[in-house]
Amino acid sequence: MAFKENFLWGGATAANQIEGAYLEDGKGLSVADIVTGGSHENPRIISPSMDEKYFYPSRKSIDFYHHYKEDIALFAEMGFKAYRFSISWARIYPNGDDEKPNEKGLEFYDNVFKELEKYNIEPVVTISHSDIPLNIAKKYHGWNNKEVINLYVKYAKTLFERYSAYVTYWIPFNEINDIFLAMSSLGQGAFIEENECTFAQQKDDPNARFNALNNMFIASAKAVKIGHEIDSKFKFGTMICHITRYPRTCHPDDVLSVFKNDLFFNNTCSDVMLKGEYPFYTLKEFEIRGIKLALSEEEKQILREGVCDYYTFSYYQSISESTLKFDEQTSGNIMGGIKNPYLKETEWDWPIDPVGLRYTLLKVYDRYKVPVMITENGIGCRDVLNEDGTIHDPYRIEYIKDHIVEMEKAIDDGVDLIGYMAWGCIDLVSVSTGEMKKRYGFIYVDTDDLGNGSFKRYKKDSFTWYKKVIESNGQIR
Ligand code: BG6
Repeated sequence: MAFKENFLWGGATAANQIEGAYLEDGKGLSVADIVTGGSHENPRIISPSMDEKYFYPSRKSIDFYHHYKEDIALFAEMGFKAYRFSISWARIYPNGDDEKPNEKGLEFYDNVFKELEKYNIEPVVTISHSDIPLNIAKKYHGWNNKEVINLYVKYAKTLFERYSAYVTYWIPFNEINDIFLAMSSLGQGAFIEENECTFAQQKDDPNARFNALNNMFIASAKAVKIGHEIDSKFKFGTMICHITRYPRTCHPDDVLSVFKNDLFFNNTCSDVMLKGEYPFYTLKEFEIRGIKLALSEEEKQILREGVCDYYTFSYYQSISESTLKFDEQTSGNIMGGIKNPYLKETEWDWPIDPVGLRYTLLKVYDRYKVPVMITENGIGCRDVLNEDGTIHDPYRIEYIKDHIVEMEKAIDDGVDLIGYMAWGCIDLVSVSTGEMKKRYGFIYVDTDDLGNGSFKRYKKDSFTWYKKVIESNGQIR
């Protein structure tokens, strides 16, 4: 049997995409609370004035805050061994720089942990999932300010001390390399302006952006070091938005450019977080781009002392790239590419590439030789709730099944794969479009793009299917 006996089958979510209750029990505003709904065609708007004419989907999301018991019971019914979720920083420190944590916020997660413990579900906790207290964005310009390192470490320490009885697996930052693209750097809060803009229209200063990343590395390393001291059982994972890239042609220029993009975009962060120092090619690339890092000798030492224990990544698709011109493009998580003639795409034009997952698993395990966990994978689709309460989603079953088959092959290849968390195991708000209709879940939530609906939960066909997969440890597919 390829999958280990204690393989962590489960699902993943993020606070700002599920919790809602955006100002309840002392929570402060998060950056996600000022981002409007949108669609594939109409981009979301970041509205610092919080103009009432817009709808802000994160504010209610799927109201997990009031449904967590029911939702966790459904995860348990599917047989989840693990559940990855994030803690909302603004629920614990409403302004990010408060002297004392918000006890009510801490209690909420106490309750979530207790509920998971009841069903023997292992928590995998993301400390910061692309969302920071709005005050940190406005007052400090987010991660661009070294002061935020201390604020994060204080927040992380609060979590470690409070929840050490429940947690082994921590993830300091979700998709830390998102910040490589100006468009997806919102969650790091470095560039909130007074004026409204879309993700694509955000002002950009690459020097500030990469220094913000550098500060996140230092914060992560400090937290990892302190975490290891607080509890030696703690394990910390990188979380990389892995954009698996292929050359569109076998022209040597294409092969070389894809190789270099892979080093820079996919490997920089995991190299720093697992090897404790910047790789040579990234430092060279920074030099070429005129990026000047504020990184002291003391901070370099911190990076070396706070290395992570395991590798995690999100995988939805691959992209093709070329130095030659091709007209047909595809969309994707964070970035799109040239259409790959061998692959189909989802309704949102993301290529579907299960074999790419095996390739990625081999590639990252070969490079880092630490346990690997897939912390996001899934397909966003338009599901139909039938009158009898059923939802038939064979496309989701097919997508996940095909990826599990490739995971098994990668394990046979020798990869130490320890877990699989299906993204959006319960329907949630999409990050890129702010929609509800782009659904990933095994559980359907009755709410629409404008927050209307009963918020009732329904089991999709994939719910029963995934339950069998877990029961059989990946053998029944
Ligand atoms: C990942 C994020 O990049 O992609 C998730 O970590 C996000 O938060 C997921 O939801 C899927 O993207 P989208 O845009 O379909 O929600």
